[in-house]
Amino acid sequence: MPKHNIDPYSEVIIGMDALREFVVSIWQAAGSASREAALVADHLVEANLAGHDSHGVGMIPRYMRACREGELKLNSHAQLVRDAGAVLTIEGARGFGQVIAFEAMERGIERARRLGVCAIGLRNAHHIGRIGHWAEQCARAGLVSFHFVNVAGDPLVAPFGGIDRRFGTNPFCAAFPREGRVPLVLDFATSAVAAGKVRVAFNKGVETPAGVLIDVDGRPTRDPGALFSEGQHGALLAFGGAVAGHKGSGLAAMCEIFAGALSGGFTSRTETLVTSNAIVNCMLSVIVDPAAFDAPDKDKEADAFVHWLKATRRVEGVDEVLLPGEREDATRRERTETGVPIDMTSWAQIIDAARAAGMTDAAIAQYEAR
Ligand SMILES: NC(=O)c1ccc[n+]([C@@H]2O[C@H](COP(=O)([O-])OP(=O)(O)OC[C@H]3O[C@@H](n4cnc5c(N)ncnc54)[C@H](O)[C@@H]3O)[C@@H](O)[C@H]2O)c1
Repeated sequence: MPKHNIDPYSEVIIGMDALREFVVSIWQAAGSASREAALVADHLVEANLAGHDSHGVGMIPRYMRACREGELKLNSHAQLVRDAGAVLTIEGARGFGQVIAFEAMERGIERARRLGVCAIGLRNAHHIGRIGHWAEQCARAGLVSFHFVNVAGDPLVAPFGGIDRRFGTNPFCAAFPREGRVPLVLDFATSAVAAGKVRVAFNKGVETPAGVLIDVDGRPTRDPGALFSEGQHGALLAFGGAVAGHKGSGLAAMCEIFAGALSGGFTSRTETLVTSNAIVNCMLSVIVDPAAFDAPDKDKEADAFVHWLKATRRVEGVDEVLLPGEREDATRRERTETGVPIDMTSWAQIIDAARAAGMTDAAIAQYEAR
């Protein structure tokens, strides 16, 4: 693997099974039990398959640094700290978010099936990654869900009308399961783009789209270095831009408070800034059993609407109007066939992380060759 003169535009393409095995090996070498390594690998590779490379295997170097700093605690489990029937409070204690959120959803699914609804306040988990993954876990159980998340203590986004970083990229997610088909999954960062997408642009050496970043003085910029270069203190904008940025900014603020305050976790401010490599997520999830409503025609109604929506006239260059989750489903099908593309900078960083975990060059070479 060349360590210097990496062409930022080149990439490796690796099959999903080989990539998954590689991720399992990395975390087992770092000390994860096999179930944890498998859950982390499933989540990261699934994010890449869905087309969200910002939340895929490219996170491994950051996770490894947090792990070596003792900030990400391997082999931890979701701890139920308060059981109020339809409301559960769960402590994540900086365990692997991919395990903590999975276990929290398992509990919430069981409770929502029994009671019709369950709200979970999940606090202090290490990065729980792509939130759609958790909505899909609920949808596989036939359940509707809504998720409000804060990136506690890691403000990167300026509020509407502001210049300074005040909240995280705080994602919102909502999902509606459909019999025999992929669920509708709306899942996005409340920033104009996810921070990981700016990281991918930085690694590739390309500009971000306009309307995403401001520099330290609040001027618009397309340089991803405004967020990721050493000593730079620009900010992401909330989604919605100059005209409707108050909506993204408002939703981000509600995510911060629902997730950070209601879970018993924490909100972002000067006293709570996370200065290590840890990424701390809190999440309010509301999981609902659609069978508990008096709505025998819900699928028919939803399908009729979808049909009507898609029958709209389209603007030039648009082949199909997409519903939430359809883009991810199409990318998943394609990448399952063709493999996952990973830019060379990210791949080199992942190889370094594998070495840091204790994998030998010979073991790593097995995967580089595939
Ligand atoms: N854990 C964290 O701290 C954290 C923080 C921020 C973001 N995230 C994750 O980052 C990921 C990426 O977020 P993002 O904001 O870059 O997502 P995005 O801008 O790609 O938006 C994704 C959503 O928009 C829908 N969509 C995409 N293109 C569409 C089209 N042409 N027509 C209709 N719908 C379309 C998708 O189906 C999906 O629901 C998400 O999975 C999010 O959960 C996680």
